[in-house]
Amino acid sequence: MSNNNMKIRKCLFPAAGYGTRFLPATKAIPKEMLPVLTKPLLQYGVEEAISAQVETMAIVTGRGKRAIEDHFDISYELEHQIKGTSKEHYLTEIREVITNCTFSYTRQIEMKGLGHAIACGETLIGNEPFAVILADDLCDNEDGDSVLSQMISLYEKYKCSIVAVEEIPIKDSNKYGVIAGETIEENVIRVTNMVEKPEPEDAPSNLAIIGRYILTPDIFEIIKDTKAGRGGEIQITDALLTQAKQGKVIAYKFKGKRFDCGSVDGFVEATNYFYNKQK
Ligand code: G1P
Repeated sequence: MSNNNMKIRKCLFPAAGYGTRFLPATKAIPKEMLPVLTKPLLQYGVEEAISAQVETMAIVTGRGKRAIEDHFDISYELEHQIKGTSKEHYLTEIREVITNCTFSYTRQIEMKGLGHAIACGETLIGNEPFAVILADDLCDNEDGDSVLSQMISLYEKYKCSIVAVEEIPIKDSNKYGVIAGETIEENVIRVTNMVEKPEPEDAPSNLAIIGRYILTPDIFEIIKDTKAGRGGEIQITDALLTQAKQGKVIAYKFKGKRFDCGSVDGFVEATNYFYNKQK
């Protein structure tokens, strides 16, 4: 039996990908550590989880990603150098993150897709519902709750898997998981179909999944039974379709902005947005 009534306490961050689109920057630095202004992408994701009262971070890393672990740990040398100086405030945010959360890590040994990466996190999550944040989708909601907070509130009501979606130009459908379904309340859709990266002519709608999920723990068994799909990879979209066919997935049109920091254009947009916001 799964424990769908439990509170969401843990957030999984798949962070094993190569970041090919940002080479050569990502040759020795994980893409999740690329900064928008002065903060690494992954820290934005962690802070979004904290804003939703989720304080256990489960990170699926890969080879060459040790900088992530070092980032979410104390650097005694740095603390020693900077303590009591005018520069100390630069450490305020990361100190808070480290103090308020626990981090656990596991490695994805082979790159077999997002579904496979999530399955690697089972050992850190266990038998409880959990959140997933893809750090290269950077989200911000100036007017209220973060995207993950909004989704967790919705989980309290529906107790089933949730994907965050937004409307996209149909020509871009082959970059996303795309859903179809029936509206059950404002901004909430019961999902009946989902397809990973369909060509525009095959897209079931213009509603694309962005990198925020709430998953119930039965997803782990489902992923094990899910065959490789688009790109020869094990896709979370395909595993979720199994749940959707049982009426157990909803899509949520979130409030706020999302930047695709997996692309150079989106990264520059996010940088300009956060720069203008802090001025
Ligand atoms: C992944 C998912 C896709 C989703 C996207 C959101 O794709 O497979 O369904 O729409 O994240 O960013 P990726 O961007 O890793 O290729």
